[in-house]
Amino acid sequence: MAIQEFSSLSSLTTKAVASIDAYKAAKTEKARHDALEAATRLVRALEEPSDAIYKLFASPAVLMAIKTASDLDVFTALSQTTSSVTYKELAARKNADGQLVERIMRVLVCNGFASELGPGKYGPTDFSRQMTERKTIGTMDSLFMDFLPIINKTPEFFQKSDYKNPGDPNNGPFQHAYNTTGTCWDWLAKNPGALDRFNTFMEGGRDEIAHWADWFPVQEQLLDGALDDRPLLVDVAGGRGHDLAGFKERFPMGAGKLVLEDLPSVIEDIQTLDSDIQRVKHDIFTPQPVKGARAYYFKHIMHDWDDNHCRVILQHITAAMETGYSKVLIEDYIVPDQNAGPKETLTDMIVMVWCPGIERTRHRWTELLQSVGLTIKKFWVPHGHNKGVIEAELQSTGGI
Ligand SMILES: C[S@@+](CC[C@H](N)C(=O)[O-])C[C@H]1O[C@@H](n2cnc3c(N)ncnc32)[C@H](O)[C@@H]1O
Repeated sequence: MAIQEFSSLSSLTTKAVASIDAYKAAKTEKARHDALEAATRLVRALEEPSDAIYKLFASPAVLMAIKTASDLDVFTALSQTTSSVTYKELAARKNADGQLVERIMRVLVCNGFASELGPGKYGPTDFSRQMTERKTIGTMDSLFMDFLPIINKTPEFFQKSDYKNPGDPNNGPFQHAYNTTGTCWDWLAKNPGALDRFNTFMEGGRDEIAHWADWFPVQEQLLDGALDDRPLLVDVAGGRGHDLAGFKERFPMGAGKLVLEDLPSVIEDIQTLDSDIQRVKHDIFTPQPVKGARAYYFKHIMHDWDDNHCRVILQHITAAMETGYSKVLIEDYIVPDQNAGPKETLTDMIVMVWCPGIERTRHRWTELLQSVGLTIKKFWVPHGHNKGVIEAELQSTGGI
């Protein structure tokens, strides 16, 4: 390493230590993100490019090892042990080959998914405990089994389609990989296993950021001024209803106030949901059946579609809204103009290969909503996040 590289390392170390101290003092999400970023820059400076690149190239093997360990119940066994568990004991649970499990365990230890308490003896870590959660397993299974084959084929799709930005829900990386012509939603409706994985993935997506009702001023912006004889909140394309269930836990209310809409296959896939939440089988490309609600909420919906499709979806909503009363609430990423982070950039790739959708900057959100007669009242973004709620209203006609 050259002298100036060592001095750059010292400066990165000083910055990383300072930002970790700042995090310890402030204990905020923003300070944690800043510390992580500074530490990542330091780690990157220490890595030889060839090592870093090889690790990245081989990283799908990490996923494979974690998926196999999950299938073998390794994470459950690790979380249950009071001292340590050997690879032979881990293998015995599913009658697997001990040597295979030992090899898988080495990868897990290297990547923080198990701790090594002696040769061939293992214990849990925070990562391995998280791997026992139902929603985490659904997320991993959906990404590994249903998304990875598309990601693998996407460069080939781009070669064949002259590197056009994908936007057609019937002709994108998804259709190329699965050799199908329908949308990803049509495909899910015909593949119950994939639908279950995807819907569980959606439930899990909630955990990375607190429920919006915890940081959005629900009382002032929704409840104050809400009319008794109207629905309060329509969750449009709300999956299995986990967001509305979370809302009702925080703001208890009786029947007729909360409405969940999604495709028939998804509504029929609901196993448990509060009976006060009304379920409506609805296609977002048809007129909105619930008129004059206080708010129409979309989470991770606009990012599934290009601007032209979003306009059609939103026009069905604006036709149902009452000027001066109804609002649109969109929970999605708001991509920074510079230095976008890993979550929004990678989610942008995930929605691109799947729907194909797109994550938007403030500027793109403003242009999109203005084009359908909506005015953004505010971007509500919790400190330290690049995801938030965009609150919009119908543009006033300006008449007297
Ligand atoms: C990315 S998921 C988001 C689900 C939920 N809002 C959440 O954040 O967990 C997209 C949802 O859009 C629904 N969807 C797709 N096409 C639709 C359509 N034409 N009409 C209604 N819902 C649709 C899917 O079934 C799925 O539940």
